[in-house]
Amino acid sequence: METKNISQIRILFVCLGNICRSPIAEATFKHLVKTQNMLHLFEIDSAGTAGYHVGELADPRTRKVAESVGLELDHLSRQFKMEDFERFDYILAMDKSNAQGLSNLARNREQIAKISLFRAYEKEARSLEVPDPYYGDTAAFIKVQSIVEHASKSFLNFLIKKHGLAYK
Ligand code: 4NP
Repeated sequence: METKNISQIRILFVCLGNICRSPIAEATFKHLVKTQNMLHLFEIDSAGTAGYHVGELADPRTRKVAESVGLELDHLSRQFKMEDFERFDYILAMDKSNAQGLSNLARNREQIAKISLFRAYEKEARSLEVPDPYYGDTAAFIKVQSIVEHASKSFLNFLIKKHGLAYK
């Protein structure tokens, strides 16, 4: 099948520290679009609203869970910057606090309009948030992996419909 000739869709996943939730969301979504031969249609990145862990690899607990589903996380933590509002089309917050932090930084309606909760695209989500696992146990990290896998599929389905994407 042919792919429609559209420019890349730029997606930024955002959490607090950019070492637990958003790096695994980034890698999960990247892997998903790759399996659908759609990687060339996207620019995908992640960032944190805070700079506590800038330059660090994802948390070892996140990397372990990612590895268990075949994902290798090589992203280095970075803090969200104002230019990200211009660069990215979709700025996907992992929880409401992250979304609020981003909204506080936004300077205009266009920037506000780019912010949404990652789970808002799931039709049957019981919660709209990807819960912060940082102070949690292994189960909390496993849960994050499962949530972002499901949310990635929902978000890609949304994009396919909204932008008329087709499989290559
Ligand atoms: P993340 O998790 O926002 O999913 O990367 C956290 C990472 C670090 C901290 C909090 C949450 N921290 O307080 O350092």
